[in-house]
Amino acid sequence: MTSKRFKNPRAEHGYQGRPCSILSVGSYVPERIMTNAELEKLVDTSDDWITTRTGIKERRIAADNEFTSDMAAMAARRAMDAGKITADQIDLIIVATITPDMLFPSTACLVQHKIGARRAAAFDVEAACSGFIYALEIGQQFITSRTYDTVLIIGAEKLSSIVDWKDRNTCVLFGDGAGAAILQSLPNSHGLLTACMGADGEKSELLYMPGGGSMCPASANSVAAGLHFLRMDGKETFKNAVNAMYTAALEALRRCELKISQIKCVIPHQANRRILEAVGERLGVTKDQVFVNLDRYGNTSAASVAIALDEAVSTGVVKRGDLVLLVVFGAGLTWAAAVIEW
Ligand code: UT7
Repeated sequence: MTSKRFKNPRAEHGYQGRPCSILSVGSYVPERIMTNAELEKLVDTSDDWITTRTGIKERRIAADNEFTSDMAAMAARRAMDAGKITADQIDLIIVATITPDMLFPSTACLVQHKIGARRAAAFDVEAACSGFIYALEIGQQFITSRTYDTVLIIGAEKLSSIVDWKDRNTCVLFGDGAGAAILQSLPNSHGLLTACMGADGEKSELLYMPGGGSMCPASANSVAAGLHFLRMDGKETFKNAVNAMYTAALEALRRCELKISQIKCVIPHQANRRILEAVGERLGVTKDQVFVNLDRYGNTSAASVAIALDEAVSTGVVKRGDLVLLVVFGAGLTWAAAVIEW
């Protein structure tokens, strides 16, 4: 069993698969720090506005010659080192991203080459800020079904490449980075208790990038119209984020028959401190229970909870045996939650 102490929701459905554990995690953020003061020089904004409306103080920006696959590979190597995994052990690589190096091939294939995981199958998942938990749930299926023994999942983004640096509504919010996890089955050990996912495509235009796909291929006109930049209706996205994250978190807890008070650490998608506070308040968690690092990284989309989980583990906030609730929300709309016994 994944856990002797907690309910395994899969058992409830007579599911006979083996348990899935997170063996190790790792993350990477680019060296360059962009502060709010720097943004004051780019757009009509202020450190005070950004801090009070979002909680963000600074974010990391990848170098011009540093791509999503480079950051993903760095995070992957760190997770592999932490789990003492060699590249030839990896069966599958799943990269969650909305900022792939290019439309195709997948960033996962580029990462496969960069880390030398020649045996691994590789594909990308696009679920925006929810991508890492989508990848976790997909990766878990391959472990529990015994299809693969070692799965590498990564959330990685170079959001600085799709942000309109003249739009103060969005450019202050986002940053670059990557986080990774190695999934294996470790019987009688810690593991993933449940993960649930959801989506609502009717609200796709709350947060989207219209240009560059089959609907609006890149052209001089599309570039001139700024269609290759991320667009967001902030207020509506905010409301949907709070509702969806709260509902997903409740569903994950219900499946494991856990109370929120049993959760040591809630790791939410790091979009906006006010969203985190609103979700936390509705769930009835204490401030100490919620892990926050958005002040240093801003919103890194699919990388967000992956980086946060790695930091929570490496700083000792999360220890072996602790129950962790991951909850995310993003473009799509998409949302997801997972409970892990770390
Ligand atoms: O990761 C996926 C999920 N993403 C999110 O969850 C993001 C959700 N949304 C948000 O976090 C917030 O809606 C924002 C931080 C984007 C905006 O905060 P808000 O409290 O909803 O502000 P607002 O959009 O209603 O704007 C309030 C005012 C406006 O001015 P007026 O119209 O009242 O004169 C904006 O033009 O603040 C203005 N404003 C700014 N002022 C200074 C917007 N951006 C800025 C800025 N600096 N950067």
